[in-house]
Amino acid sequence: MCGIVGYLGTSEAMPVLFNLLKRLEYRGYDSAGIAIMNESVETFKTRGSVDDLRSIAPDIKGCTGIGHTRWATHGKPSSENAHPHCDCTGSIAVVHNGIIENYIEIKGKLIDSGHEFRSETDTEVLPHLIEEYYDGDLESSVQNALSVVRGSYALAAVSADDPDKIVVARKDSPLVLGLGDGGFFVASDVSAILKYTKNVIFMDDEEIGTIKKDGISITTLKGVPVEKKIEMIEWDPESAEKSGYEHFMLKEIFEQPDIIRETFSGRISADGVDLGLTLPDVKRITIIACGTSYHAGLFGRYVIERFARIPVDVEIASEFRYTDPILDCGDLVIAITQSGETADTLAAIRESESKGCEKLGIVNVPGSSITRESQCIFTRAGPEVGVAATKSFTSQLAVLLLLAVQLGRQRKVLSTADANEFVYELKQMSGNIQRVLNDAPQIKECAELFAGADQCMFMGRGANYPIALEGALKLKEISYIPAEGFPAGELKHGPLSLIYDGVPVVAIATEDTVYDKVLGNIKEVKARGATVIGIANESDTEIEKYVDYVIRIPDANQWIAPVLSSVVLQLFAYYIAYYRGCEIDKPRNLAKSVTVE
Ligand code: G6P
Repeated sequence: MCGIVGYLGTSEAMPVLFNLLKRLEYRGYDSAGIAIMNESVETFKTRGSVDDLRSIAPDIKGCTGIGHTRWATHGKPSSENAHPHCDCTGSIAVVHNGIIENYIEIKGKLIDSGHEFRSETDTEVLPHLIEEYYDGDLESSVQNALSVVRGSYALAAVSADDPDKIVVARKDSPLVLGLGDGGFFVASDVSAILKYTKNVIFMDDEEIGTIKKDGISITTLKGVPVEKKIEMIEWDPESAEKSGYEHFMLKEIFEQPDIIRETFSGRISADGVDLGLTLPDVKRITIIACGTSYHAGLFGRYVIERFARIPVDVEIASEFRYTDPILDCGDLVIAITQSGETADTLAAIRESESKGCEKLGIVNVPGSSITRESQCIFTRAGPEVGVAATKSFTSQLAVLLLLAVQLGRQRKVLSTADANEFVYELKQMSGNIQRVLNDAPQIKECAELFAGADQCMFMGRGANYPIALEGALKLKEISYIPAEGFPAGELKHGPLSLIYDGVPVVAIATEDTVYDKVLGNIKEVKARGATVIGIANESDTEIEKYVDYVIRIPDANQWIAPVLSSVVLQLFAYYIAYYRGCEIDKPRNLAKSVTVE
């Protein structure tokens, strides 16, 4: 959802900015731009990718600059609408992530006072406003400009008058500053600057920072100085690189055995589960999330209700916040979010706080907004760069399993013996994921057969229903094949009408209490001509009689098998997109982190 970067230091800024932008491309990639401080502000921008920009930009010397990679909201992708945007004189340049809600009103006033606009964006009001308020000091001009702005922003501004300075500000959009040996870095996300430094400052809402050669100073929007903590990011910089894989998505799929081991590390023992925090004793839980994280939430409902016997509602964050939700003071609201920055999820958790609910985040990115608003359980998946979530999803499932066991033990509805037996199974999860990955060549062969499909259906029951939804989402996100996931029991209520000769149906038919029912559903689609790919346990000797192709997963507990099936479906989607020649890491129109409504 747009990425902003900046650099001020002793090296040439241009290569550093390109490097930072490449690492943020997953936030948006319809256009890109940079501004370098030379004798004046030299700006280059284009529709297209960071590589496109690199190929057209001349080599501009200068050790200070800002950059942007765009995911269009206001105004189509074009070089005019690409950032940086400048004031009338071209001496002030701004990159911005967020939305200026009152830009039409501000733009009207600025036009009346003689400002000339060149783009259709909301952002362009910012450099003109700064120009309007300019008093020789960039920081106070940004501060004054922001006092009339409504909306969200993470921004970086430079001015030709002050060539060794970058002013940054944040409200409701992420912004992190890096402190490296040879300079200072600005980025929307820590993973972009890891290569240069692990020492960072997370900007908070309504803060303005000034970066100069001799250091960084931060104040509130009202000018009150703020003491910020320098935090050390534990992520390995290598984990944000492709490391020889063709795509980040494939690399991230193959990281899952290690990630799951890390997610469980220090949290499971012979005595059960300890997530390192005391969970409130609540009567009801509401889970809120978007996209893939929402599917993890649906899985969470099944496991928490089963292990802890607490009723759980699962809500899409963008719906939840506008439905005047009925929450009781003391209910527990859990926000699941990889990025910790999804605007709707953050707004929903704030809404629940205002109703007196207990809050808990399940989050991947350290230092992200949600971590500063709520107690959190980290999924520990490391930086996820592929837009299609993979390792963050399975690590969310793993955390939800841990949470369910801890709540179950805490409420004494899960016996010590049952908890220990389950923990034993959890310990096998990482090895079992590895065994699924060892079968990637077979999944690839199967995917090749369906790469030309016009549509694809995914069905599962119980805890496999969210996995079917996620399988369909993965396929549509990266291969653009219309795909639908549904609970197999709902077939007769609609999805059957989509079945025709040869249409692929992926059926999750692992052994659990509804296995026989799923076999019945497979018969129903087979009878109408579907080609069925069954995901089944390795010991299942029946399944071949029912389906056309079988992909096996290791025999595992019925609450763990969905995690293994997820990995199969990730690979299935990946290889189909691969055979269709799709841009797997940068799917059309999508961004990894949706920081605007
Ligand atoms: C975007 C991403 C998805 C992600 C969703 C929620 O749509 O493309 O992969 O699941 O946002 O993001 P979050 O960071 O809150 O999990």
